[in-house]
Amino acid sequence: MQPQLSDAFVFFGATGDLAYRQIFPALQALVRREVLTAPIVGVGRSGWTRDQLIERARASIKQSAHFDEAAFQKLAALLRYVDGDYRDPATFARLRAALGDARAPLYYLAIPPSMFATVVGGLAAANSVTGARVVLEKPFGRDLQSARELNAILRRYFPEESIFRIDHYLGKEAVQNILYTRFSNAFLEPIWNRDHVRSVQITMAENFDVRSRGRFYEEAGAIRDVIQNHLLQVLSNLIMDPPLQGSASALRDERARLLRAIRPLTTRGVVRGQYQGYRQTPGVAEDSQVETYAAVRLCVDNWRWADVPFYLRAGKCLPVTATEVLVEFRRPPSELFGELVPTLSSHLRLRLSPDVVIALGLRVKVPGEHMAGEDVELIVTRAPTETMTPYERLLGDALRGDLSLFGRSDAIEAQWAIVDAVLGDGTPVYEYPCASWGPHEAVRLIEDTDEGWINPQG
Ligand code: BG6
Repeated sequence: MQPQLSDAFVFFGATGDLAYRQIFPALQALVRREVLTAPIVGVGRSGWTRDQLIERARASIKQSAHFDEAAFQKLAALLRYVDGDYRDPATFARLRAALGDARAPLYYLAIPPSMFATVVGGLAAANSVTGARVVLEKPFGRDLQSARELNAILRRYFPEESIFRIDHYLGKEAVQNILYTRFSNAFLEPIWNRDHVRSVQITMAENFDVRSRGRFYEEAGAIRDVIQNHLLQVLSNLIMDPPLQGSASALRDERARLLRAIRPLTTRGVVRGQYQGYRQTPGVAEDSQVETYAAVRLCVDNWRWADVPFYLRAGKCLPVTATEVLVEFRRPPSELFGELVPTLSSHLRLRLSPDVVIALGLRVKVPGEHMAGEDVELIVTRAPTETMTPYERLLGDALRGDLSLFGRSDAIEAQWAIVDAVLGDGTPVYEYPCASWGPHEAVRLIEDTDEGWINPQG
């Protein structure tokens, strides 16, 4: 049976930063493609009017550079606004009234996780949860304990198939392509294991600071912000076992199984950094110990990946903005040509952003008398590939009830279990200069490779 299409789209946090950066442009696109023809209700606590919200939507979509007057007019006509405190039952009564005849609304909580329980409780008290779906923005909780509590609260009001935990990395074309390419080219599978892979690196570098998000960052830090979610999603697509079918539940089963096999981090497996000047950001404590950079070394305790090290790192204020995966293959067992083949000669490099590159690194002979070689890459490259933004894709999926690209409760808890012991300030935070590759101490994690961290090009 096809899941029912949601008959209203409600988003909490309508006056916030995420709505401005991502949600309005996605809504215009969904309206333009006629995926969304139902009423759209923004809920916020800024004391705004509907007209102010429409102006905010216009400014947001204009900054995204995809403004389309006809689609915008349709969006504006569908848009309603409910203002009020999320703790006040009257807010939810007004929302119920604004929903009119809608019986299967989708509620999108684009608000801090600390407010999730309050909003879900408010909806339940106003008899507004039956038949509804709920979409929750990341981070889902602050740690394992709070994620479990949140899951327990949600389960009181919603069945698991109505809960959509967003991680926009799962909606990225290049991240889906990892899964697609792996399982559509059977030759990869025989080498995709500990017998052939020596190590894996994943780097998510951003060349900008926390911008105006100081307060948010103080609550989060790089581990909660991107490692616990985005980088673990990339890793799971990269190394999970083949799902039994392409269905949402089969995909989610395999993803969760892999995440459960990742050994929880201990303090020895993490290095945290903070860029110079972070403490001067509005909303940041003068003595903040929050990391703007984190590097971790993960182990996967399963048959396929035992003893292969997985190095993940992410940071703000690094020299470039790029996300790259580097799979290093083992060296040949003997030096037939009297030449030491460099460690990284054989590799697969997957660049996920800003452009998409699949590069197979090989050692080939240099023309001439001697059996001597050089490293080359066979490169497939595609300039920016998104035909739709991750938010457009994911919100469209949620409206249709397709769960494939959303986190299931067990997977989210497994993600938190991996990082739980290294959240907070239990390890030192090392300062690093802006536009550097993070604190020097991160080298410690990767000493067992010959090459160390491989930095993506800009
Ligand atoms: C967000 C994080 O989830 O992802 C940000 O909160 C980060 O800190 C962003 O900059 C990166 O997303 P993208 O799609 O630009 O790689």
